[in-house]
Amino acid sequence: MTAELDKTRIPQHIAIIMDGNGRWAMDRGLDRTFGHKAGLDNLENVTTLCSNLGVKYLTVYAFSIENFDRPAYEVEALMGLVLSFIKMDLFHNNNVSFHVVGDRDRLPKSVQDKLRSMEEETAMYDGMAMTIAMSYSSKQELVNATKLIARKVQNGEMSADDINEETIRQHLWTSWMPDPDLLIRTGGEVRISNYLLWQCAYSEFYFCDTYWPDFNEEALHKAIESYQSRQRRFGKTEAQVEEEVKVKK
Ligand code: IPE
Ligand code: IPE
Ligand code: MG
Repeated sequence: MTAELDKTRIPQHIAIIMDGNGRWAMDRGLDRTFGHKAGLDNLENVTTLCSNLGVKYLTVYAFSIENFDRPAYEVEALMGLVLSFIKMDLFHNNNVSFHVVGDRDRLPKSVQDKLRSMEEETAMYDGMAMTIAMSYSSKQELVNATKLIARKVQNGEMSADDINEETIRQHLWTSWMPDPDLLIRTGGEVRISNYLLWQCAYSEFYFCDTYWPDFNEEALHKAIESYQSRQRRFGKTEAQVEEEVKVKK
């Protein structure tokens, strides 16, 4: 076990790019789809860990719009896994609500229905909000928001001059959640792959080589420790931020 975490500075919102499933499976001589199965199993573990730590929002990247360009058998296998994944006890036992962000219309109808029923069945839980980004593209999310706003301007509901950052935020699929404090990417790549581009403007980034199915409690603690060792300045100077902390205490 790693050092104790500072319980007063647990990130409110953790976003994760769950990468490395395919390589995890291939290292074991298995088909890539076994990696996705192991990855979904691990999502259950990490959801429980985050909920126990007091994280309020966990938003995980499970499938990008670009991922539809993978071989059809892999896409089909993934959709099938989503249908069978995550026992509902995970939500019932941990007071966790389930949500989806992404372009749902591109998903098979059976997957859309399953995700919708999971959302409805867990809507009353007010512990942690667990969101899965499925058929997600941050650029598409921004295009969608732009269209919604343009229509309002066209209908005379608002004027173009009134558009500000808050207007855009309110029209994103993620409008109901705060921005991520910590973004974790597993699997060794150091890129954002079209994930939460607007929302991560001031998130702390943490990249690790561990493949997603192996990302366990110790790995999660390391990521949070790294987060806790940083000073978030939001454009201000180090001295200004230190002063603000003193005044709060
Ligand atoms: C992430 O793992 C899951 C999805 C993108 C669906 P990958 O499938 O990208 O695994 P690697 O990166 O090929 O190892
Ligand atoms: C990003 O992983 C998307 C998910 C983890 C769901 P990818 O493996 O698709 O990302 P790239 O293509 O390597 O950037
Ligand atoms: Mg990958």
